[in-house]
Amino acid sequence: MTDRTPPHSTDSTDHTDRDAARELDRNSNRGANDDRDRNHNCGREREREQTRPTERATDGGIGTDPETDTGAETEADASAPTRTETSNGQQAAEPVEHVPIADPSLSDTVLERVEAVLEDGMLADGPEVRAFEGEFSGFCRTQHAVATSNGTTALHAALESFGVEEGDAVVTSPFSFVASANAIRLAGATPVFADIDPETYTLDPADVERVLDDRDDIVGLLPVHLYGLPAQMPELCAIANEHDLFVLEDACQAHGATVDGKRVGGLGDAACFSFYPTKNMTTGEGGVVTTDRDDIADGVRRYVNHGRDPGEGGYDHTELGHNYRLTSLAAAIGRVQLQRLLEFNDARQANAAYYDEHLEAVPLETPTVPDGYGHVYHQYTVRTESPDERDALAESLAARNVDSSVYYDPPIHRQPAYESVSTAAASFPDAEHAAETVLSLPVHPSLSTQERRTVVEAVHDHYNL
Ligand SMILES: Cc1ncc(COP(=O)(O)O)c(C=O)c1O
Repeated sequence: MTDRTPPHSTDSTDHTDRDAARELDRNSNRGANDDRDRNHNCGREREREQTRPTERATDGGIGTDPETDTGAETEADASAPTRTETSNGQQAAEPVEHVPIADPSLSDTVLERVEAVLEDGMLADGPEVRAFEGEFSGFCRTQHAVATSNGTTALHAALESFGVEEGDAVVTSPFSFVASANAIRLAGATPVFADIDPETYTLDPADVERVLDDRDDIVGLLPVHLYGLPAQMPELCAIANEHDLFVLEDACQAHGATVDGKRVGGLGDAACFSFYPTKNMTTGEGGVVTTDRDDIADGVRRYVNHGRDPGEGGYDHTELGHNYRLTSLAAAIGRVQLQRLLEFNDARQANAAYYDEHLEAVPLETPTVPDGYGHVYHQYTVRTESPDERDALAESLAARNVDSSVYYDPPIHRQPAYESVSTAAASFPDAEHAAETVLSLPVHPSLSTQERRTVVEAVHDHYNL
């Protein structure tokens, strides 16, 4: 791995950022307190509108202080009147009839910014995208951010820029969304899996070493910050340094997560994020590569634009590439979402703290957060004692209209699309066991206090507590 000096401000406290983000948010949202909470996934908004007597209202970004929300319920909470506030400050109607697993929060500011782009007429690549890139690299404290059309294309373009090619192998986790390994295959290389740490569900550094001992074609590591918890980056970067490998973080689920106060995105040689609607922040579809390395940033800029030389401005295509560009409309959404990211993460953390506390007496393993790690709870994932128990719990929750989801079963090496991949034949017992026993509960920032209480009650009911 390449040694890097932090390029940006020495002020690395989350707190300062949070204040700045809130200030930005206050300014950009001034006067806009009519948040339209939409769910762009699976038409769920319509379903919710039908089941709820009153609409949600008010933008949670303004005037709420998530730091004062410890996630703990009070007596007053328990006897709350017919409306209750979300941990994101929004109003929700009671009774809760359905608790969705994801619920993206978009404000009127998004509409204004998108409208401005529409009026401007520069809909594809343009200044809005450059501005978003600048703001995202500032957030990650990296030298560069290059926007892409989604997280998968970010991973693919980054791997191409590292020069990965046929005959090369890259180590990744078998317990991830399939895109992590697909990107390696799209670059022409072979994904090599190492098992996960059963406590954190992220790549086990000891198993990575075992794999490295067996092969001499490995050129890089692609650790995944699963569910919003960073992989064990200090250990993995030390291994990479020793073996002269690049480290590409798959941070698609971990916007704002930290290790020892340092944000993901700047922990390896490069990192990739997704802005899919369920993620900690969204642009609809979208992605970004962050890096401190000029060569990687330049390579990604060229690759996402058909290998076009960015310096010349003409039609000099110096290498093969793709059209993996982000649109200005998506960038406009992303700029507003980025301003609210810390607020969203605070709300996710408050919801997670609430679950930690209220699921203590239940025979479930709640998420492990190692010392020094900042988890941003893209998912709040519990673990049951057996596969049957997982399925039974999911059924009980569904019967109470509480969504839950399994991320991911089967693991990547057991996917039909991986039958032809030689390295997928191996066994990774911890990943396989996790795939059979994990279950994610709704933890998104739009969750109301009543909704998260409903989730806990549904789990308690299942265990007859
Ligand atoms: C871990 C991980 N990697 C990669 C991706 C791919 O991102 P996208 O869906 O934006 O292509 C995702 C998205 O779900 C993901 O969760």
